[in-house]
Amino acid sequence: MEFEKEILCIGAGYVGGPTMAVIADQCPQYRVHVVDINEEKIRAWNSDQLPIFEPGLDEVVARARGRNLFFSIDIEEGIRKADIIFVSVNTPTKAFGQGAGRAADLQYWEKTARQILENAVSDTIIVEKSTLPVRTASAMERILHSKSNGPRFDVVSNPEFLAEGSAIRDLEKPDRVLVGSRETPEGIRARSEIVTIYANWVPRERILESNIWSSELSKLTANAFLAQRISSINSISALCEKTKAVVDEVAYAIGRDARIGPHFLKASVGFGGSCFKKDILNLVYICEGYGLDEVARYWESVVRINEWQERRFVQNMLSNLFNTVAGKRIALFGFAFKANTGDTRESPAITVARELLEERAEVVVTDPKALKNARIDLKDVEGSVKYEEDPYRAAEGAHALAVLTEWDLYRTLDYKRIFDSMVQPAFLFDGRNILDHEALYEIGFNVFAIGKAPLKHF
Ligand code: NAD
Ligand code: UGA
Repeated sequence: MEFEKEILCIGAGYVGGPTMAVIADQCPQYRVHVVDINEEKIRAWNSDQLPIFEPGLDEVVARARGRNLFFSIDIEEGIRKADIIFVSVNTPTKAFGQGAGRAADLQYWEKTARQILENAVSDTIIVEKSTLPVRTASAMERILHSKSNGPRFDVVSNPEFLAEGSAIRDLEKPDRVLVGSRETPEGIRARSEIVTIYANWVPRERILESNIWSSELSKLTANAFLAQRISSINSISALCEKTKAVVDEVAYAIGRDARIGPHFLKASVGFGGSCFKKDILNLVYICEGYGLDEVARYWESVVRINEWQERRFVQNMLSNLFNTVAGKRIALFGFAFKANTGDTRESPAITVARELLEERAEVVVTDPKALKNARIDLKDVEGSVKYEEDPYRAAEGAHALAVLTEWDLYRTLDYKRIFDSMVQPAFLFDGRNILDHEALYEIGFNVFAIGKAPLKHF
């Protein structure tokens, strides 16, 4: 079959894989090819065991794979054939040299740009799908335009706003799609090519267009604002615990103000995930680069409050467990950074587990999807952590439970059975405020929630 367009995506990760699967599913007239340097990942994308867990993803891939969706490691061939190249490689925080711990590490990004330059044989639109510092497009253009008589490249910014666990829904029914470009006739033409792809299934009024710098900066800003709401409510959770106000009631009351809105106001043990911290620190670094120190300090505080909240949670466990957890079995319910994903990157559970191990607790981790990643995260302390699929078995003989991921599964467990299998007095720390605290207290637990006075039997 003749396809209308050849779309390539470089990077078959959490973003590249699902995004391209949805484009292929929605647009059978395009051929979509996803490439990666990681052979194992590509093998998994071509198997029944996809490399990531995401509700609805299996079905989308099953419909499109082999028809107009293909996964391979043939990057050079992919570049040669492509009309449009989405670049969705990872942009982690730099771990070395200037800007270490804050700036974005753009080495994978730059390698990709050079590989495109070497292999492209015809005019190509390059789409920034990864999250990038504002003004990256100008560096990208400089590399791509460094050959005097090569093909023409137009760089377009199209940041991804999907959240893990709801990626397919977010991609199929996005709040908005953002496409930014240079405001030259060629830039506008390239932009409209990308708009056309999304217009196959996204209502036109939800496809926003802007200049390229606004588009790049909107992505960092969106993540910073989302994370800032969580840090704001988490800071108030600490005050609630001191004053007998209830943070969920406060969040509900303020969220009913249409100007504030109800979303992202759930107090928790802290936000995790691969992007919030990395993107805010990158924003901080960029602001510093422009001499905007006050702006940098403002955003940095969002990350600092988050780190404080995680430590505060462990501190609270420790002080309520009579200031010692040495030799005590503590069951961590959930290790994923949020529900409905197996991803554990920057999960608050990592900090909690490590701090408890530091105090010589006997840590047992349970999670329906994230045990494989948990083992990798805690590889250096192998032997001191136990992993248990079954939450009932994890809780057996434990002094305390800590709920660290808001899996629905944990809402409906038989907590009487769990209580009876634990060492008494039994403690429960709800780091996600998802359980019925009064009912747990009635069973006999000493209950400690976020942003709420504790329910203690002594
Ligand atoms: P990821 O680590 O899951 O995937 C990136 C992939 O790129 C990896 O499989 C890696 O092997 C591959 N890669 C790296 N260099 C390559 C190269 N030169 N050639 C071919 N493949 C290469 O990362 P991700 O979570 O998909 O994130 C990708 C980007 O999207 C990041 O910038 C991130 O900030 C952004 N983002 C992520 C999310 C999310 O929910 N994870 C959401 C929105 C935006
Ligand atoms: C987040 C953004 O929501 C996406 O829009 C963005 O595309 C993505 O980052 C990215 O750039 O990577 P994600 O990290 O997948 O998505 O998940 P979120 O739902 O945002 O949750 C992040 C963390 O905040 C989780 O640990 C979650 O449990 C926590 N959270 C979220 C709270 O503690 N309270 C809330 O009210 C909401």
